[in-house]
Amino acid sequence: RVLKLGMMPADGIGREVLPAAQRVLQATPGAPQFQFIPLAAGFEHFQKTGSALPEETVRILKEECDGAMFGSVSSPSHKVEGYSSPIVKLRKELDLYANIRPVVGVRGTKDDEKWLDTVIVRENTECLYIKSETLEQGPHGQVARAIRQITEKASTRIGRKAFEVALARQQLREKAGQGNAVNQVQPAKVTVCHKSNVLSVTDGLFRTSVRSVFEKDAISAGGAGRYAGIALDEQLVDSMVYRLFREPHVFDVVVAPNLYGDIISDGAAALVGSLGVVSSVNAGDSFFMGEPVHGSAPDIAGQNKANPIASIRSAALLLEYMGYPDPALRIYKAVDDVIREGKALTPDLRGVATTSECEAAIIKALTA
Ligand code: NAI
Ligand code: MG
Repeated sequence: RVLKLGMMPADGIGREVLPAAQRVLQATPGAPQFQFIPLAAGFEHFQKTGSALPEETVRILKEECDGAMFGSVSSPSHKVEGYSSPIVKLRKELDLYANIRPVVGVRGTKDDEKWLDTVIVRENTECLYIKSETLEQGPHGQVARAIRQITEKASTRIGRKAFEVALARQQLREKAGQGNAVNQVQPAKVTVCHKSNVLSVTDGLFRTSVRSVFEKDAISAGGAGRYAGIALDEQLVDSMVYRLFREPHVFDVVVAPNLYGDIISDGAAALVGSLGVVSSVNAGDSFFMGEPVHGSAPDIAGQNKANPIASIRSAALLLEYMGYPDPALRIYKAVDDVIREGKALTPDLRGVATTSECEAAIIKALTA
């Protein structure tokens, strides 16, 4: 079977790191056959054509592709008439309601004491990001309000996704055995991140919805449900940040509403050295889109300096979620080997290698 992947490099370093990821996929032993379909998206495309995400791109993704990869978009920080972020629209159009972000250190590097191997599962459709804001003139100046929406449906759905992620990680760990990034020895665990001591209605609903996925599973099978091997835990978001910095190794899978998830996942990324190594996948029930966490990095774009690892790991993550754990594991391991060896690292990791040299070292490690 040929896997059809829609490829949207979009802007800036996306055009350098996405092709690198594509070549790594092609070079991975045991990977399926791929057909890569280049698709237009991004701010530059908007400047040329007036559309940051052409209808045709969405149509091809929906009708022809099995999965997709997105590079990075240069969203302007001021409002540009007619422009809206293609990534936000893609998540909506393809119903990619979960943003799944592994943050993984590499054993045997100087960051060992800050070792972490966690996955943040962020709800992607609601919370404060429904952008329902108002501004009024009050008696003592302006008053701004934002509505935060938490629904049982979205919270239950993300809760179920988090347990599935924990389950898949447990299986992958068993497959991987010792010696690479997915082998942390601890029982699978899902930590619900919330602030329901203060926001007892909204965060309360998030918390009980996630918990009820677990509880219903346990009850339905008389204690031997699908998630029986997973521990359920919870953490208030503020102390979550504290613990993430002090003892990151205690977290396995963390599930969070949109805003908290956004913040803690960027914070966690700081613990592994560079944005240039952190991957993600946007997930729905049957469609997945890999995406490096970083942006278009205009400061280094076009100089063959960008770290391709975030994109390469995102490609592996996409394979993993599309049901190909073995080639995904090979890619994770090759990346870890190259980081551990330390000879082909880009400047963000204090190396002197180019994007191409880093990619070549990973391909060499894959096929060695
Ligand atoms: P950024 O992630 O592009 O860059 C932040 C810093 O990290 C820069 O110094 C950059 O050189 C460095 N960096 C990022 N990725 C790297 C890599 N692969 N290798 C080496 N160094 C890397 O974030 P910034 O500067 O805040 O935003 C730049 C543009 O990217 C903006 O237009 C922003 O809207 C957009 N952006 C897009 C995202 C997306 O496509 N999902 C996410 C974040 C920002
Ligand atoms: Mg963010």
